[in-house]
Amino acid sequence: MADRITAPRGTADILPGEVFLWQTIEATARQKFKAYNYKEIRTPLFEASKLFKRSLGQTSEVVNKQLLELKSDKDEGFALRPEGTASIVRSYIENNLDKKEGLSKLYYMGAMFRGERPQKGRLRQFHQIGAEVIGAKAEHPYWDAEIISLSVELLKAFGVEGCELTVNSLGSHTDKEEFSKKLRALLKKDKQGLCQDCQDRLKRNVFRVLDCKNESCKRIVRSLQLDHSHLSKESLEHYTSVKKGLNISGVQYREDVRLVRGLDYYTHTVFEITNKKLGSQDAVCAGGRYNDLVKQLGGADVPAIGFALGIERALLAREASSDVREADPDCYLVVLDGAYLDQALKLLVQLRAQGISAEMSFRSGSMKSLMREADKSAAAHVAIIGENEIKARKVSLKNMKSGEQREVAFDALVNTLKG
Ligand code: HAM
Repeated sequence: MADRITAPRGTADILPGEVFLWQTIEATARQKFKAYNYKEIRTPLFEASKLFKRSLGQTSEVVNKQLLELKSDKDEGFALRPEGTASIVRSYIENNLDKKEGLSKLYYMGAMFRGERPQKGRLRQFHQIGAEVIGAKAEHPYWDAEIISLSVELLKAFGVEGCELTVNSLGSHTDKEEFSKKLRALLKKDKQGLCQDCQDRLKRNVFRVLDCKNESCKRIVRSLQLDHSHLSKESLEHYTSVKKGLNISGVQYREDVRLVRGLDYYTHTVFEITNKKLGSQDAVCAGGRYNDLVKQLGGADVPAIGFALGIERALLAREASSDVREADPDCYLVVLDGAYLDQALKLLVQLRAQGISAEMSFRSGSMKSLMREADKSAAAHVAIIGENEIKARKVSLKNMKSGEQREVAFDALVNTLKG
């Protein structure tokens, strides 16, 4: 017997019974994005590897360990996108979106790929819904508040309850350097207690120590006396205004000076939304400012901010009671004699052309077996077609909920079902 081929580890089929929920989540997101005036953008699933290396940072886990690179003849170096921000900034620069649009408010939904060790809530192919505000006019701290409120609102609209929002500010590029110096000096005292990876991180990118999952590192990080003294007056003012914007928008948050995020491009505001139901992979949404990235990738010196939420994690954290179900067919045609199949097919085509969800078994058979099939389809009505019906150009229409049955002319069937 041939080997059974299974889906790659860390990927999942989204089966017909689940797709409707995904569609509902996507439709809800589109409505929210419309309310906030964001426009959709779709970028390729793979990009030049160097795009991610340059933007997310060589020392980030995503680039260092998780980038899924593609083999290619010409050795151009492509990689499946591990996130959406870098691609959108690339596209923003390449297509002069700033000149065309002034301020770009963009959203996206789609698959992302990271070569992680799969576990609950951590996949190799997962899906994000995200948004980015990019352009010279994206400076104001209320854009930060808008992006954060939008993420919170989306999760609520998806039926995800019990989320916790944490915000922080890393400050400008210069403030970040200051912060990393301070952090390095503090951590050096406890160097021996850090894991081997973190001892390396001390030299290469000290912020990564703050995200380490090793218990001993976590203990050391918790004991650090950190504050916002590395922030310049302007950075502090920006951060204060972001919080004011959140207060005005009615968004609740906590602050944590240890929140730095795992990607290098962030400056100023960073935030994360967690949910306890998710266990160890508890981040359902995250984002922040990246004021230097557009310039760093060859574009104008314009600020930007954005977020992305993981759809799989949002679904895991969702209340089961808010489950949604795809609508069942309106009508199921039951044909008692093979001689009438062609006429029944004509009727089926007419119903569908009028937007009625209709189904039929392309076989004739006993009333009992066909009614069993109709029942399985969960159709609201069953239209029975036998010899008498064909002669009278009528169907016997049974309402499956009330059990009531009546005769309806072929010509009147569409209106009856619509009614
Ligand atoms: P991120 O924190 O890497 O940020 O990912 C955002 C969200 O994607 C996470 O909070 C999580 O819900 C989901 N996610 C990430 N990795 C996985 C995985 N392996 N399996 C399942 N879900 C996952 C970004 O991607 C940034 N681009 C966000 C951003 C946009 N910052 C500014 N603009």
